[in-house]
Amino acid sequence: MPADLDALKNDFDAQLAAAESVEALENVRIAYLGRKGKIAEVMKGIPALSAEERPVVGKRANALKRSMEAALEKRKTSLAATPAAKTAHGDLTLPGIPLDLGHRHLITRTRDEMVSIFQRLGFDVAYGPEVEDRWHNFEALNIPDDHPAADPFNNFYVTDNVLLRTQTSPVQIRVMQQQKPPVRVVVPGRVYRPETVDASHSFMFHQLEGLMVDRDVTFRHLKAVLHLFVQEFFSPDARMRLRPHFFPFTEPSAELDISCFICDGKGCPTCGRKGWLEVAGCGMVDPNVLEGVGIDPEEYTGFAFGFGIDRPAMLKYGIHDIRLFFENDVRFLSQF
Ligand code: DAH
Repeated sequence: MPADLDALKNDFDAQLAAAESVEALENVRIAYLGRKGKIAEVMKGIPALSAEERPVVGKRANALKRSMEAALEKRKTSLAATPAAKTAHGDLTLPGIPLDLGHRHLITRTRDEMVSIFQRLGFDVAYGPEVEDRWHNFEALNIPDDHPAADPFNNFYVTDNVLLRTQTSPVQIRVMQQQKPPVRVVVPGRVYRPETVDASHSFMFHQLEGLMVDRDVTFRHLKAVLHLFVQEFFSPDARMRLRPHFFPFTEPSAELDISCFICDGKGCPTCGRKGWLEVAGCGMVDPNVLEGVGIDPEEYTGFAFGFGIDRPAMLKYGIHDIRLFFENDVRFLSQF
């Protein structure tokens, strides 16, 4: 019998050591100290023992019971103190690992913001290919084939006739080829030019093209739409001016300046001390362009405009180097 108690103690010790959770520990307690447990079984057998054995075994069984109780208590305390072992799944009280949530790139956000302002003014959104043919990128836009803009020096040609588009304006042509007036669209997208990369130039950047063609569309409509946009996107206090300019695909053409919102028009390094920031080209769609896509310029007129996206984003968020947008350094990107 004493040998049985020794074996019982060994089994108990092994099971106690293997118990890694409060639940497992409770199971060990029930198995040994419970009403129908191993110790109760030993006690139950005592009356059947000889007169000499009874007190010896009784005493030892009681001692074993007490030491088991103490050991269980101790193990329980140490389990509570080592949280990692609390459950089979680890320590559920540890703080969670934060999930890094992604967000839209600043250019994407700026693009979406610009687009949504025009959508609220009733403009649809259109897209066109970044790999474009010469005709759409130049000729159809009234840019003659021998114009310096079409020169290989100023373009990424893929073949003699195919190039990476240098502007979003060719999508004006694609839209008008597919849709008869009234047309009211904006076209966001990437454009490519072989620029030497520096803080303000990149060989790839973004534009937002706009086009409205209908009966009786005038320069006043253009001005009103641009004004609403400038107030909404830049600032309600922003002033704007239209400076005469030349673009082959619009006549008359203008450049849109807004009062520098950094210095409020007084002149600062951001606006080159001019007090004005150039943000878009625009004008009335040249009759040649309309004719080229089969729209009668006697019946319809239209206006067009082309904003940059990168520069407004830089101005709005105080970014001084365009390269930061494209380096994909999360230390930069996660700030916005
Ligand atoms: N495509 C011109 C550029 O890349 C910008 C532009 C100017 C677009 C005048 C227009 C426009 O639609 O009317 O410089």
